[in-house]
Amino acid sequence: MLDALGRDIRYLRISVTDRCNLRCRYCMPEKGVEWMDHGSILTYEQIVRLVRLFAALGVEKVRLTGGEPLVRKGLEHLVRAIKEVPGIRRVRITTNGLLLAEQLPGLLAAGLDGVNLSLDTLDRVQYQALTRRDGLEQALEGLNAALAAPGLTVKVNCVPSGENDDQLVPLAALAKDRNLSVRFIELMPIGLGSTLPRRTEAEVLARLEAAFGPALPCSQEEGGGPSRYVTFQGFRGQVGFISAVSHRFCSSCDRVRLTAAGFLKTCLQYDRGVDLKALLEQGADDAALTRAIREAIARKPEGHHFGQAPTGRDEDRNMNQIGG
Ligand code: GTP
Ligand code: 5AD
Ligand code: SF4
Repeated sequence: MLDALGRDIRYLRISVTDRCNLRCRYCMPEKGVEWMDHGSILTYEQIVRLVRLFAALGVEKVRLTGGEPLVRKGLEHLVRAIKEVPGIRRVRITTNGLLLAEQLPGLLAAGLDGVNLSLDTLDRVQYQALTRRDGLEQALEGLNAALAAPGLTVKVNCVPSGENDDQLVPLAALAKDRNLSVRFIELMPIGLGSTLPRRTEAEVLARLEAAFGPALPCSQEEGGGPSRYVTFQGFRGQVGFISAVSHRFCSSCDRVRLTAAGFLKTCLQYDRGVDLKALLEQGADDAALTRAIREAIARKPEGHHFGQAPTGRDEDRNMNQIGG
C-alpha cells in the first residue's frame, strides 16, 4: 500500500525477540539488561495472523530480526508459516550467526531465502571487545554454512565504529572470492549508537579504494533496499553502503517494523505507529486490525532527522528492542 508520500510499503521487518547472545557496544549495554517477559511478546500465531493482513495490503518481503532471532525457539516454524502466506515472496533473517550453523538446515527446509550476518571484525580479540562475548568462530561457521547453501542470498553487515578501522579492508575482501555482499552501515544515532564515533561512507570508501583501486559500478539489487552497491577489480561479490546519515534514503523507504512487543513502527527514528498487540488482545477482528495498519502507514513520517533537534516523539530505545 502507498503511504501519504506515495511510498509503496512492501517490506516488513519483524523483531521476534529483544534477547541476544552478544552485547554489541552500539546496540546493548553490558550489564543490567531487562528482557521482556514471554507474555509481552507476540506469539508466532499472532505474528502470522498479522503477516496475512500485511500481505493483503501489499507486503511481499519479510525480514526477521531481534535482538538475535535465532535465540527464539523454533524460528524455523515461523519461517515456514510466513512463507505459506499468500503474497509473501521472500523471508530472510538478520542474525549475528552464532547459532546459524546448527539451525540452518531447518531454516532452509522451511524455505528461508536469505541471511544477513552481522560481523564487525575478523579479529578474535577485537570481536570480544566489540561484542563483549566470545563468538567469532561460531559466527564464521555460520557464515560458511550460509555460503554453502545453494540459492541463499548472503550479506555481511559491518558497522564501522572507529574501533574496527583496521578490519574494513579484510572484511570487504571477503567479497573478493565469494558470491556475497559486504555492507558497511553508517552508525545511526539511536540508543547507544549515539554514544560512539561514526565512520562515514566516504571515509570507508577511501580506505577500500586505497586497498583495491577505484570502486566500479555494479548492478543494484532487484527491488533495492537502502544499500547501494559497488565492486572492485577482480571481485566476485559486491560491497554495499547503507548510509542513513550521509546519503539519506527516506524518500524511497519501502518498509515498516513490528517490534517484539507488537508495536507497528512506521519509521526507525520515531515512536510513531500503533500497538497491534493491544488490539489483538482486545479481540480486534481482521477488519479493525487492517484499518489500524492502514491508518498508521498513512501517517508514516517523511524521514529521520539525525543530527537535528529532538522532536519529542523520537525513539529512545536500543536497537535490540527495535530490530534495526
Ligand atoms: P536487505 O533487504 O538485504 O537490503 O536488508 P536490509 O539491509 O534492509 O536489512 P538489515 O537487517 O541487514 O539491515 C542493515 C542495516 O540497515 C541496519 O543497520 C538497519 O538498521 C538498517 N536499515 C534497514 N532498513 C532501514 C531503514 O528503513 N531506515 C534506516 N535508517 N535504516 C535501515
Ligand atoms: N546504527 C547502525 N546499524 C546498527 N545496527 C545495530 N545498531 C545500529 C546502529 N545504531 C546493525 C547491526 C545489524 C543490523 C540489524 O543493525 O549491526 O547488522
Ligand atoms: Fe524510512 Fe524512517 Fe528509515 Fe527514513 S529513517 S528510511 S523514513 S524508516
